[in-house]
Amino acid sequence: MPSPRQIPKPIVVEPAAEPTALVGRIKAAMRSLDAVLVAHYYVDGALQDLADATGGCVADSLEMARFGRDHPAQTLVVAGVRFMGETAKILSPDKRVLMPTLEATCSLDLGCPAKEFDAFCNEHPDRTVVVYANTSAAVKARADWVTTSSTGLDIVRHLHARGEKILWAPDIHLGRYLQAQTGADMLLWSGSCIVHDEFKAIELELLRREHPRAKVLVHPESPTAVIAQADVVGSTTQLLQAAQRLEADEFIVATDAGIMHKMRQAQPHKTFLEAPTAGVGATCKSCAHCPWMAMNSLSQLAATLEAAQRGEATQEIRVDRDLAQRARRPIDRMLAFAAARKVAPSPFATQGSQGMGPA
Ligand code: 13P
Ligand code: SF4
Repeated sequence: MPSPRQIPKPIVVEPAAEPTALVGRIKAAMRSLDAVLVAHYYVDGALQDLADATGGCVADSLEMARFGRDHPAQTLVVAGVRFMGETAKILSPDKRVLMPTLEATCSLDLGCPAKEFDAFCNEHPDRTVVVYANTSAAVKARADWVTTSSTGLDIVRHLHARGEKILWAPDIHLGRYLQAQTGADMLLWSGSCIVHDEFKAIELELLRREHPRAKVLVHPESPTAVIAQADVVGSTTQLLQAAQRLEADEFIVATDAGIMHKMRQAQPHKTFLEAPTAGVGATCKSCAHCPWMAMNSLSQLAATLEAAQRGEATQEIRVDRDLAQRARRPIDRMLAFAAARKVAPSPFATQGSQGMGPA
């Protein structure tokens, strides 16, 4: 018989706080910290609703960056993944940027380490370096331009028209799409998004046969054979706009399932089907939901804010000042370019942008 010293202590599982109680605590903490919530469409619907209800925004990466930069609040709370928090901090170095958890990263960011990327760029000094927003501050600091999925096509077209050869990182599918659409000379890094990479072209064809009138909306991080079946290719905001604009009653959506919350809210009479991620059988990779976006929750957010109130800002984004200044140049270049093209606010969010158009 084990001695009392050997008997493991029972694990006490705290009862989960009621969502309404959590929301009340979060709102109070946000007021005391002069905070605004900037959320991505892939995070939990409760967080998206809270951002809308408290004067924050739910948007794509471009609009999250612009909204945070332009909002007067002293604290930006970014519900999304780390590169989004870093971009907010780079654009607003004097604001405090908090996240529900700093553990939320992105496979594109992880797949493009700054040192290797720097060496790759050094091997090709004749090329203009264009990086996707889903990268670290250090990778952005090595770039001439940053793009998001909503600005990529226009920026690459613009550089190609100026006769520039491009080095693109990290998303290979988005890179191939931009290359095919613009005819630009692009050297591609081979990163990918673990969520969009899972969409299956053959299964999508079968689903389209079952729903012949459905329009197909595809995020450009998806494989080429999936993009080839799209009626509209675009950023998350652009796909939401397409779902509203197009006459169809049914849509097949190839992006993270988190976006269904806003799609169904905005168009309750329309049917939205998830594009297939499983082949013959489902696997644990078949959920079409970003595991890092899923780390954002009401309870994590409450914990972050209440810790900050106690002076323990453990989930605070910090970016070295010098690095931030270097990373800011290519981001500002993109934002100035988008402003000149009048990339307009979205009707679904506080902010938004134009569609990329059919594939
Ligand atoms: P958007 O800028 O289109 O929202 O994309 C961000 C992202 O991480 C998609 O996976
Ligand atoms: Fe990164 Fe993909 Fe998650 Fe977007 S969905 S944050 S690209 S891993």
